[in-house]
Amino acid sequence: MAGRLDGTTAVVTGASSGIGNATARALAAEGATVALLARRKEKLDDLAQELGEGTAVHEVDVTDADAVREVIEAVVRERGRIDVLVNNAGYGTMDPALEADLGEWQKMVDVNLTGVLATTHAAVSHLTAAAQGPRGIADVVTVSSVAGRTVTGPGSNVYAATKHAVNAFSEALRQELGTKHVRVGLVEPGLVDTELTNSGRENTPDASSASELGVLEADDIADAVVYMVTRPRRTAVNEVLIRPTEQ
Ligand SMILES: NC(=O)c1ccc[n+]([C@@H]2O[C@H](COP(=O)([O-])OP(=O)(O)OC[C@H]3O[C@@H](n4cnc5c(N)ncnc54)[C@H](OP(=O)(O)O)[C@@H]3O)[C@@H](O)[C@H]2O)c1
Repeated sequence: MAGRLDGTTAVVTGASSGIGNATARALAAEGATVALLARRKEKLDDLAQELGEGTAVHEVDVTDADAVREVIEAVVRERGRIDVLVNNAGYGTMDPALEADLGEWQKMVDVNLTGVLATTHAAVSHLTAAAQGPRGIADVVTVSSVAGRTVTGPGSNVYAATKHAVNAFSEALRQELGTKHVRVGLVEPGLVDTELTNSGRENTPDASSASELGVLEADDIADAVVYMVTRPRRTAVNEVLIRPTEQ
């Protein structure tokens, strides 16, 4: 059966686990060829083996802008195009300011904000080029958070700041790229059961302690991404807020 993304190339950052892994699978199931980006190559290799021919693995730290640019150029050399960019790689801690490690704050800024900027900057001209092709559309989807819309409580300080920043960046990009037929959208999950929420680190939101209905699965977020990038060309879904029913 024809997939709705047949012939397209998608780049997913943070594809080695959680929401990125689920999103890569969901895009591939719709026919996209997916480039998987993250630091843990073995995890990417395992996923690539499952997804099959054409899937590309790129071991990269998204905070290294030069390395990200090299990867994006390699994807375009190999595949000829980038139709969909999913900015998903992220990191979070929930330490109150009085206890927080400044290095952890910097890490959130580096991964959640600088990483999104580096990847988007490297890919944007390729997305506008893809949008001029027969499909006539390209997409940037950034995985933000409920914490990108509202400050979710004590300890969400820098995580919320980075996610608010990517929300502002995404809206500005939307205003710039719409006439070029590049859709720019945000997915804002509530609590999702992933490594991020089950890391065992202190002061992270703990998905394992949430009730069964009180936590989302990574596939729930992947569904939203697929919905966004498979809309008709005239339709841009700019923002999807998804919370567990009980949150
Ligand atoms: N889980 C939740 O409740 C929740 C809620 C709202 C929003 N989010 C957002 O969802 C996104 C995905 O998180 P997740 O919940 O799926 O957590 P996860 O399972 O921990 O996944 C995070 C991904 O980001 C990658 N990553 C982290 N730092 C990186 C770096 N410097 N360079 C490249 N890749 C890096 C990790 O890969 P490597 O370690 O292999 O590099 C991993 O693939 C994040 O942006 C997060 O803020 C999550």
